[in-house]
Amino acid sequence: MAFMEPFRIKMVDPLPQITKEERIEILRKINYNPLQLSDDEINFDLWTDSGTAAMSHHQWAAMVTAHEGSINPDSFYKFEDTIRSITGFSHVFPVHQGRAAEHLLFSIHSKPGFSIFSNTMYTTGRNIAKRLGALAKDLPCKLISGDCFNGNIDCERLEQELAQIESGNAMVVLTLTSNHQAGQPVSMANIKRTSEICKRYHIHLYMDGCRFEENAYFIKIREKSYEDMSARAIAFEMCSYFDGIYFSAKKDAMCSIGGCFATKSVDLKGKFEEMVEAFEGRRRYGGLAGRDLNAVAIGLTEGLEDRYLKYRTESLSMFGDILKKAGVPLVEPVGSAIYINAAKCLPHIPTEQYPAWTLHCALYVEGGIRCNYLGHPMEYDDSNERENPRPQHFLRICLPRRAYTLSHMLHIGEVFERVIAKREHYSGMRIAKYCKATSLISLEPVKACFIDE
Ligand code: F0G
Repeated sequence: MAFMEPFRIKMVDPLPQITKEERIEILRKINYNPLQLSDDEINFDLWTDSGTAAMSHHQWAAMVTAHEGSINPDSFYKFEDTIRSITGFSHVFPVHQGRAAEHLLFSIHSKPGFSIFSNTMYTTGRNIAKRLGALAKDLPCKLISGDCFNGNIDCERLEQELAQIESGNAMVVLTLTSNHQAGQPVSMANIKRTSEICKRYHIHLYMDGCRFEENAYFIKIREKSYEDMSARAIAFEMCSYFDGIYFSAKKDAMCSIGGCFATKSVDLKGKFEEMVEAFEGRRRYGGLAGRDLNAVAIGLTEGLEDRYLKYRTESLSMFGDILKKAGVPLVEPVGSAIYINAAKCLPHIPTEQYPAWTLHCALYVEGGIRCNYLGHPMEYDDSNERENPRPQHFLRICLPRRAYTLSHMLHIGEVFERVIAKREHYSGMRIAKYCKATSLISLEPVKACFIDE
């Protein structure tokens, strides 16, 4: 059966119309830093899959009908019921987004000398851990080309680390899927083994579940013994191996804002409640409006339907195939996003001349595309980075959920083809100016001009 989007479109957002000449002018004006582009200067915004989903009419309807301003909002009970039934965790707390959950949870556990081990910790969690005086240490599995579960944690290294830690001085977070491991999923076998290790060392195990629904479906299609189970049943089993889950509702739950922490621990429930009331809002809304709670409950449920997840994972892998056909080297199999190896794509540009930035500028000029790098070129002096260097020469292409169609993907594939056809004309970049306080970078082409047409 041919691929098909399982929805029809009821509201449209016209793509801006900017000419190539205008884009070249804009790029010069923003000093070759596409992160400075404003929204109306972009045709295809593939920067993030966070807060960018098209919501369903059920979500919009529930937003409009939500009662606001209540201390015991109905919407909280819908949110709580949904998360309880999906995860099995009885104590459920809304928070305003993912990093709020990280902040509150890490604050409860952390003290100087505390370690948080992870397959890879997302930047927000890493920064929060650092501020709290804790060490966030990534233990990604060894990358095996073509392996289906390259998001796994390295269990041998985890055992070695935990064996040296004083009891109670560490916790483990598994990020599902793993944003800093090219969006790759974690297998159920790896989750189970991590859980056994944590139990043995009396260490809490939490899930960063921003994309746990997608991870559940990857388990269904890539881990043989789960092929007959629904993603919902797989997600429930996944959660059973953890002490708690936190997530940003801007990803799998297809909302513009929102987050959650849920746990089975009564002790943690009391501590988290105090933290939410101090920093987020009352316990039953945690910084969210009633309408947001409703939208999250529905989005999370829709995001866990097999039919939707089949479409989601197929569109990601099809987008990968389209780009591969255009000659783009990328991480395979595609996970929750597409990671392009820019150094391989532009082999004439040495890595110290930021091939990912050149590729990004080229994609913008050629097709008005904005994408993302995970990590900032000035960030690499951190000790953990040296041990596990981030793929700074990778460009991340996200596919906002339910927002772009197959014809958009085909069009973007053609933009890549045009860029690849003249790749040797593009110049590398150097950093012209960097402001540490604002993290603002100005770049300039190493050659007299960016593209010598
Ligand atoms: N954990 C993961 C795995 C994430 O990808 C993100 C956000 C967060 C935590 C923090 O959530 O933004 O709601 O506070 N990732 C976005 C991205 C920003 O583009 O991947 P938040």
